[in-house]
Amino acid sequence: MKIFLLGYMGSGKSTVGRLLAEQLSFEFLDLDQAIELQENIPVSTIFQKKGELYFRKQERKLLEWIIAKDKAVISLGGGTPCYGDNLDLIKDAKDSKTVYLKMSVQQLTDRLEKEKEQRPLISHLDKKEELEEFIRKHLFERGFYYSQSELIINCDNKKPQEIVDE
Ligand code: S3P
Repeated sequence: MKIFLLGYMGSGKSTVGRLLAEQLSFEFLDLDQAIELQENIPVSTIFQKKGELYFRKQERKLLEWIIAKDKAVISLGGGTPCYGDNLDLIKDAKDSKTVYLKMSVQQLTDRLEKEKEQRPLISHLDKKEELEEFIRKHLFERGFYYSQSELIINCDNKKPQEIVDE
């Protein structure tokens, strides 16, 4: 059995995933972290030095490896389900569940404003209004993929443990 966590950057996939894995006695796997370990540099540097296309190719390769895991909670990157046939691969994985950690544009903006430096897709957005506008559009496009999850949890104003309980 494995659980995939989907959702936008900053929605809490890693925090919730780690907690959920601990409580289920499952392994916790973070796709971004797996890429960083393989490349030996942070995601932001991969984007900077090798470009997004290279990142997406590595992401795809490691997704195939991570999908074969059992008794695992897997935190995907915010963009993972939105490229190529990644979402089909995720949905077709044997004995698995997909969970979308849904969060409003407002709360995502508040969170990401404080931690945008490590996030290559938004680090150039200086003003909060620009960031909010970007997230609104991006989330609108990505919602199509995220909302194909089997379970959708509204995470606004919730503590990680409340989300894990749901
Ligand atoms: C991305 C989200 C990031 C990381 C990369 C691209 C995206 O992961 O994979 O910066 O396209 O939304 P998190 O959602 O874990 O921040």
